[in-house]
Parts: sequence; structure tokens; C-alpha cells
Amino acid sequence: MTTAPRLEIRQISRSFDGRRVVDDVSLSIQPGQVTCLLGPSGCGKSTTLRIIAGVERQDSGEVLVDGQLISDGVHAVPPEGRGIGLMFQDFALFPHLSVMGNVAFGLSDKSKARARVEELLARVGMSRHIDRFPHELSGGEQQRVALARALAPRPHIMLMDEPFSGLDDRLRDDIRDETLAVLKAEETAVLLVTHEPGEAMRMADEIALMRDGRIVQRGAPYHIYNAPADRAAAAFFSDINVIPGKVQGALTETPFGQFLAPGVPDGTEVDIVIRPQHLKIDFDRHGRGPNPTPQDGTPARAVVERARFMGSESLVEFRMDFDGSALKALVPSVFLPKVGTPLWLMIRRDRCFVFPRAS
Ligand SMILES: Nc1ncnc2c1ncn2[C@@H]1O[C@H](COP(=O)(O)OP(=O)(O)OP(=O)(O)O)[C@@H](O)[C@H]1O
Ligand SMILES: [Mg+2]
Repeated sequence: MTTAPRLEIRQISRSFDGRRVVDDVSLSIQPGQVTCLLGPSGCGKSTTLRIIAGVERQDSGEVLVDGQLISDGVHAVPPEGRGIGLMFQDFALFPHLSVMGNVAFGLSDKSKARARVEELLARVGMSRHIDRFPHELSGGEQQRVALARALAPRPHIMLMDEPFSGLDDRLRDDIRDETLAVLKAEETAVLLVTHEPGEAMRMADEIALMRDGRIVQRGAPYHIYNAPADRAAAAFFSDINVIPGKVQGALTETPFGQFLAPGVPDGTEVDIVIRPQHLKIDFDRHGRGPNPTPQDGTPARAVVERARFMGSESLVEFRMDFDGSALKALVPSVFLPKVGTPLWLMIRRDRCFVFPRAS
């Protein structure tokens, strides 16, 4: 037996002033699963979320909850009838209500409210603040109360729009992890909007990468990071190095040796993309580098232009002998060669991507 996803959207589109800001977006989320809608500013993430919440209308496409159609652009269940919890960046607690009052706000059965509020405040570590008012809480504490409030009515679906962006880094990590634990324990299906790849990697079971209103790739964080759909998808997660090439006979010849380009027509310009942490570095042996290997190809000579210690890794910038181009390498721990040192760089064939160049 297959059960319907908790939340499903099918081919949602929305235009403003003749411009499609959400373009044929489909997604489905199972109970207890977190999907992150990840993409740059203005790509249509919040609009997608607002359509699902019912506070924005789609031009076409359907929203389904547990297999039931709740909106098709013509007929729509109102936002409060959708069983969907919302948590937005600019969440506002009711200033005149205590923590207790805020969290209990959406609960209709007042006789059971106290127990539910206490349970949730315990989960988010806010039990001792139950009688305080919002102005007596820090930003992070307010955020936890907002989370408890959103979860109190046991929404089957939670939509979160950059909910952690107001917090400093350390607090954010803690609150993210707590939030995730609570949402998993409640079996909530979560759609979390963020423009930060680190947040998406940390939170998501599945990432939906969005660009110009479209979902360009969907998959587990590991998959999206290690098998990006195109150069821009690769570049969204880290700095990248790009080596240009041209395909001849399903191969492209470069100063780093040959790269396979299966199925790419002759004459196609390609970009060979490698993340800085995947460049291999070897030392110079009186003007010679290490021997070529099938895994790493041919080494190319470079000189160090700059080396900086970043804490858990070192960033080394190179100038390539063959054309004067710049490449970056991230090396674990401390590696600070002097400026001008000659070194040899190799590109691991199992770590690089070959993409036809976007016109
Ligand atoms: N009501 C509206 N009227 C006109 N244009 C709108 C409206 N709402 C959103 N837009 C436009 O649609 C595009 C997508 O907006 P949206 O808020 O969905 O982006 P986003 O991906 O959430 O970006 P950010 O990361 O900056 O929050 C933007 O160009 C925005 O200006
Ligand atoms: Mg937004």
C-alpha cells in the first residue's frame, strides 16, 4: 500500500506583472521529513510557501494535504483550515500575553492547554520562563517560544521561512538542532525556506534547489553536493575552480590531462569544475611534479600567491604556470607555504564535474 505524501504541490506557477516568479514547481513531503527550499534571494521561495499556506494564490497548479486537494487556483480551503503551522523570520509574539498565553493561543481545548504548553516548553528548554512576557526574553528565547506556539496545535505540516536568521551563529546551531528534534518527534512534514546552503545541509532530508522560479535539482544533501546538476548548482554550495575545455571525441584535453565527457558533442565548450577542498597538491622535485595517474590525471605547475589560515583549514591561492589563471585550494589544518613556492596541482577525476558551458 502506498500512502499519499503529507504535503504535495503539483506544477504550481505564479506571475507578478507578467513575470513568472514561481514556474511549474512540484514537491512532495512525507511525515517527519524535512525538505529545504534553497535558493538565492528573489528566486521565489517565499512566494511558494505563501501559496501553500493559502495567503497567496497560484495562477495554476494544485496543493494537496494527505492526498486531499485543498487548492487548485480556483477553489481553496482558507489558510486556517489547512492544518498548516507557520513560522516566519519576522515571527511576532503577542506582547501583551505571557509565554503561557502565547503558546496556548491557538489551542481550542483550554482544559488540555496547560499540559500541552508545558510539554512543548520543556522540549524547547523554556519551562522556567512560562510566566514571563516577550519583552523579558532574549531574541533566541522568543524564537523558541514562537516555535512552541507554532507546534502547539499539532500541525501536520510546518512551513518555515528563514526562521533562524535573526540569531547569532552559535545560538542558531543549537536552536536548529532543537527545532529539528521537536519536529521529528511530532512527525511533522516540514518545508523550510533558506538561502543558506549550510543551513539546508544541516536541516534537510531533501534539498530542493530553486533558481529563477524553478526547481533545478532535488535530492539528499550528499547527492546535491556531490552530483550537482550544473555549474551554478555546484557554485551555490562552495567556491569552485573552473578549468575551461573543448570536447573532441568524448574527451577534453587540458593542462591537467584528459577528462571524460561522455555524450557531449564534438566542439562543445565545457567547464571542468572542482571544489577547492578537492584539489590535490604535491611538492616540486627540482622542476618536476609527481607522475600522472588515472585517478588524478596530469599535474600542472603553479606558484603560491597567497596562503591564509582559516581555523580548521588553510586557504591557498595559486597562479597557474600554463595560463596565469588563479586556482584556490582548501587544505585541512595548517598549510602555509611561502608566497612564490612552486607546487603541483592535480584534479581528482572522482571529484570533478564536467559541464557544457552555459551560453
Ligand atoms: N506581491 C508581489 N507583487 C509583485 N512582485 C512580487 C510580490 N511578491 C513577490 N514578488 C517578487 O517575486 C520574486 C520572488 O519573491 P520571493 O519573496 O518569493 O523571493 P525569495 O526567494 O523568498 O527571496 P528572499 O530570499 O530574498 O526572501 C521577487 O522578485 C519579488 O520581488
Ligand atoms: Mg523570502
